[in-house]
Amino acid sequence: MTRVLHLDASARPGRSDRRPHGSHTRRLSAQFVEEWRRQRPTDHIDYRDIGRQSPSPISGDWIHAAFTKEPDREPWMREALKESDRLVDELLAADVIIAAVPMYNFGVPAGFKAYIDNIVRVGRTFGFDRNRQGPPYWPMLSDANKHLIILSARGDAGYDPGGVLAHANHVEPHLRTVFGYLGIDKVDCIAVEYDEFGDDRLAESLDQAERRIRQAVETLAATTAPPVSA
Ligand SMILES: Cc1cc2nc3c(=O)[nH]c(=O)nc-3n(C[C@H](O)[C@H](O)[C@H](O)COP(=O)(O)O)c2cc1C
Repeated sequence: MTRVLHLDASARPGRSDRRPHGSHTRRLSAQFVEEWRRQRPTDHIDYRDIGRQSPSPISGDWIHAAFTKEPDREPWMREALKESDRLVDELLAADVIIAAVPMYNFGVPAGFKAYIDNIVRVGRTFGFDRNRQGPPYWPMLSDANKHLIILSARGDAGYDPGGVLAHANHVEPHLRTVFGYLGIDKVDCIAVEYDEFGDDRLAESLDQAERRIRQAVETLAATTAPPVSA
């Protein structure tokens, strides 16, 4: 059975096709999941609403605990890592990760940054050994065949590669770097632009994103493990 992890990070509640002032990224991720369920009704889907409930930012205790080797951890350290362990377990279990992440001030929303800081974990998602031959850091999820779909939205336009604002886009490039660091390098990016203008260009951008989502689901659903009923 394939497991899908669906993450929403917009601060706006509701999806833009169902509610005034709703979120485009929530709309895209919901459409992805609806299409996935239609094609593979028996797959398991985990949902986490980071926009509504942000993971805790990491603390001094968290850092001390994370960089203490597992057998040497005191009870307070295990406690400090509890939430991060849950998020890492969820990520490790997922075959397909749908990250619906809007652009806020050229980067990811603060809640999604907190999520990233909690899942990049030495000994669990990346390795570190300063005495190792070759690079001291290595990705721990490379053999897990995970696939990441980044669904984003922006108020302005031109942030895709080759666009006039590509240099200012710190969403997809950042996410590719972070997830690639963990060994997740199969990544698809689909974004909506022109939200601030709300005109035909937004409508066309939404249409295009929805078409690309249907194609991405079709391709991915055909190449991941068959559903249990097959
Ligand atoms: C706090 C904040 C910061 C934003 N910063 C940018 C930005 O840097 N560049 C941009 O093009 N749009 C920016 N926007 C517009 C959002 O990216 C746009 O409204 C997008 O549709 C939000 O995603 P959502 O529809 O899923 O909520 C910003 C919006 C907010 C609320």
